[in-house]
Order: sequence, then C-alpha cells, then structure tokens
Amino acid sequence: MRHLLSPLDLSVEETNELLDLARDISKNPDKYSHKCEGKKIATCFYEPSTRTRLSFESAMLNLGGSVIGFSSANSSSASKGESVSDTIRVISCFADICAMRHPKEGAPMVAASKSSIPVINAGDGGHQHPTQTLTDLMTIRELRGSLDNFTIGLCGDLKFGRTVHSLIKELSRYTGIKFVLISPPELRVPDVIRDETLKANNIEFTEVERLEDVIPELDILYMTRVQKERFFNEEDYLRMKDFYILDAAKMAMAKPDMYVLHPLPRVNEISTEVDDDPRAAYFKQVQYGVYVRMALILTLLGLN
Ligand code: CP
Repeated sequence: MRHLLSPLDLSVEETNELLDLARDISKNPDKYSHKCEGKKIATCFYEPSTRTRLSFESAMLNLGGSVIGFSSANSSSASKGESVSDTIRVISCFADICAMRHPKEGAPMVAASKSSIPVINAGDGGHQHPTQTLTDLMTIRELRGSLDNFTIGLCGDLKFGRTVHSLIKELSRYTGIKFVLISPPELRVPDVIRDETLKANNIEFTEVERLEDVIPELDILYMTRVQKERFFNEEDYLRMKDFYILDAAKMAMAKPDMYVLHPLPRVNEISTEVDDDPRAAYFKQVQYGVYVRMALILTLLGLN
C-alpha cells in the first residue's frame, strides 16, 4: 500500500507515467469511466477548500466510484476532540482511499502511519501540497511540451505557500530549471528549501523583490496568494497582501509565450484583465487537476 504525502514519494519515472496516464484520461475519458466502480474515496478536509476537495470528488465520480467525507473540522468528531489517528482508523472501515487536508503540518503523515487505506496529503499547513504539484506539472508539460529547460518565476508568499514548497522540490529533480524567487523580504522561501533543496542540488536560483525587473526573462510565472490564514498578526498581512498585482501592463513586458499559473484561489494578485490573455493558464490548470487526481487514484488503488 502506498500513500502520497510529498511529491517526492513518486520517483521522476513514476511521476512521468502518472502524467502520461492523466493525459490519456483527458483524451479518452470513457475508457476510465467504470474503473473505480464499487470504490469509495473519503475526503477529510479539516481546512477550507474549493478546488482540491471538489476535484478529488469529481475525479472519483468520473471513475465510476463514490464519495464520502467532511468539509470542515467542525462537521466532524474532531470538534469533540477525536485525534487524526483515530479518525483514519474509522475512515479505513468506510472507504478505499482518503484525501486529507489539515492545518497542521504532518497530520496526513500521522494519519498514514495508522491507516489501512492509501492516504493522500491534500495540503498540510504551510508544508506540502503534492497533488497541486502534479497539477502544476501537467499544466507546464501540456503547455510547453516538456518539464526540462525553462525559467520559472515564483511570486508572492514563498514563506507560507505550500504549493511553492512542493513545486520547488519537484522541479529540482528535472534538468535545466532556473528558479527566480520573487517576494518581499519577509516572505522569502524558508531556509530549509533554499539550503536543502536548491543549494544542496546546485540548482540555479535568484531571489528578488520586484516582479518588473525579472518578468521579461521568465518562461513560466507562478503567482501565489498571500496566505492570510498563516499570519500571526493582521497588520503584517495587510501590509503585504497587495505587494504584487499582475496586470496587463506587466504582461506587456513578458515573453509572448510566458504562461501564468496560479494554484488559486486568487485575491488581488492577478488583475481580472489578465484572464483573457491567452497566456493566462490558471483556469486550464484547474481542469488538469481533475485528470491528475483521477490518475493518482487509479495508481494508488493499483487500477491503472
Ligand atoms: N489550489 C487549492 O488548493 O485550492 P483550494 O484551497 O480551493 O483547494
């Protein structure tokens, strides 16, 4: 039995196979529409979500399976004090696979250690979000044709943004990737990512504050939201929340084929005037998220 707690739980070869499967699913959905008949996914979300929870549920329904779950800690027995360890033992009696989101870093790992069904980390605090990373990879590969040899700018809240942490770890395993880390000084990537992933693997990276200075050199721009829910005080959040706003004027400075990704939800960091630009890929990205989650469910259940 396998879990997905970090993007690195899949080898590069396995990741590429999963992306191939996701592509086949996108082209031939009927071929997969009965693959999970009789199977159930439990979506156990202790923190709010629109995309991740509903795309897991869509993914399982598209595969012919069923869905159970809860969408907030308050609507589960966590509100009465039940531990994640006990909850997953219970869920293991009801479902064949579980996608779990939790505000505490490492909670899905604790669940996996007590589970008799595969556990997928659907986002744990500011730590990791591996299925968003698979979504990002599929988006980049479908748009560029390859996951090697490009410059990616990651912009916004690089400190608390779990999607950024997972994506840097994952892309560090591919060839010829240059990272441009764009953030206010207070929201730089954690030391552990800079030292143990980027520096330790001799990956080329720069850290800058102004998006305008670097946007012309980027092949991919990955915008992120300032993570209000992770700030300890409101004043700091208010000071930094509108630090970056991608608008048509900034897009005019970018390459004609620089795609814009965003894990969403967005607040103000991408002006809606960018939505009609053909380089805006963030809503396509959401669709790819369903295909990769279908591929992941099949892979972890051994039905691929
Ligand atoms: N990208 C993402 O994780 O979105 P949700 O918080 O809506 O699931």
